[in-house]
Amino acid sequence: MILVESVTALFREKFKVQPLLFRSPGRVNLIGEHTDYNMGYVLPAAIDKAIFFAITPRSDRQCNVYPMDMNDEHEFSVDNLQFSKKEWPNYLMGVVDQFIKAKYSIRGFNCVFGGDIPIGAGMSSSAAIEAGLAFALNSMFDLQIDALSLVKLAQKAENEFVGVRCGIMDQYINIFGKRDNVLRIDCRSLEYKYYPFAFNNISLVLFDTGVSHSLASSEYNRRREECSEGAEIIKKSYPDVRHLRDVSVDMIQKCKDKMDPTIYRRCKYVVEENDRVLSACTELEQGNLKAFGVYMNRTHKGLSRDYEVSCTELDYLVELVKDSPYVYGSRMMGGGFGGCTINLIEKNHIEQIRQTVAEKYKHQFNRDLKTYVTAIGSGTNIITV
Ligand code: GLA
Repeated sequence: MILVESVTALFREKFKVQPLLFRSPGRVNLIGEHTDYNMGYVLPAAIDKAIFFAITPRSDRQCNVYPMDMNDEHEFSVDNLQFSKKEWPNYLMGVVDQFIKAKYSIRGFNCVFGGDIPIGAGMSSSAAIEAGLAFALNSMFDLQIDALSLVKLAQKAENEFVGVRCGIMDQYINIFGKRDNVLRIDCRSLEYKYYPFAFNNISLVLFDTGVSHSLASSEYNRRREECSEGAEIIKKSYPDVRHLRDVSVDMIQKCKDKMDPTIYRRCKYVVEENDRVLSACTELEQGNLKAFGVYMNRTHKGLSRDYEVSCTELDYLVELVKDSPYVYGSRMMGGGFGGCTINLIEKNHIEQIRQTVAEKYKHQFNRDLKTYVTAIGSGTNIITV
């Protein structure tokens, strides 16, 4: 049975009615890592892996939620949202919390959800839950909230209820994703531009390290602080600077002596990465994927050496493919400390490369390598049956 049918079947079994159905995708990010919270540029895309929500409104304030693959359930009232040690309910309650805080008129709901976005692999299953539920509530209660406000609301759910100070990229691409297009987002103005990304000979392939380090969220928050600290120092020489987005390579060189070497390397990475996104987009416009890939490789170096959010497994996977003429670009993707590498690979050579990489990875770390060949899909939508 396909996923959406399984989710619907489980819902019908529990609640005996036909639900509304929503599809909320995972995401990849081609380039522009750790730039969103520095108000810079990112270039993500929604993918063909998704979470499906089967949902109906209730007449009271009660919410009953079932994650299909966890054999679990959570019940809460929209008027009494308590942080849960189980973690997964917080992504949903965080969204309800934002609707209540913004005084939108919602009631309770019954919901079953499930999908095929691997958890902890860096494809943003959490943003898919948050933005997907926000979209569903908006549609179900006919609240007429515009797309960008939904994005902000879903991001705030993660910041305030879940407690991760993520940027806006994941929730943004979840709502604004478009089939066969990547999206360049200016995380300050929140303006965006689509770039067609569908090539006959090239696929986006993810190699999953299978590790997700517990360091991820504490180090993530620390990087944010290091970036603001750096921006504050630069501001003393250049008063117009508000975020690292406003800083050039030249400015940062001039401030180098005023900074702790670690802060300098963090800032240098972010400033260079912003430039890389813009240059990579120019190459993309000209259909020059090999040149695009070179920027991805540089991003990995920066993330690994200067920003220090990579790990041995990620570095190893990048190292294995970096000299292959069939791999145009390879880098770690997302927050870091585990998850996947994203690779631009010639379609005819994917299988052979996958086999070699999997064998070597197994030998080195005694772990099975999971591979996902992704297609670029659309953002969150309602499914009409
Ligand atoms: C996580 C966050 C995003 C972004 C990336 C790093 O996915 O949720 O906001 O900061 O890390 O680019």
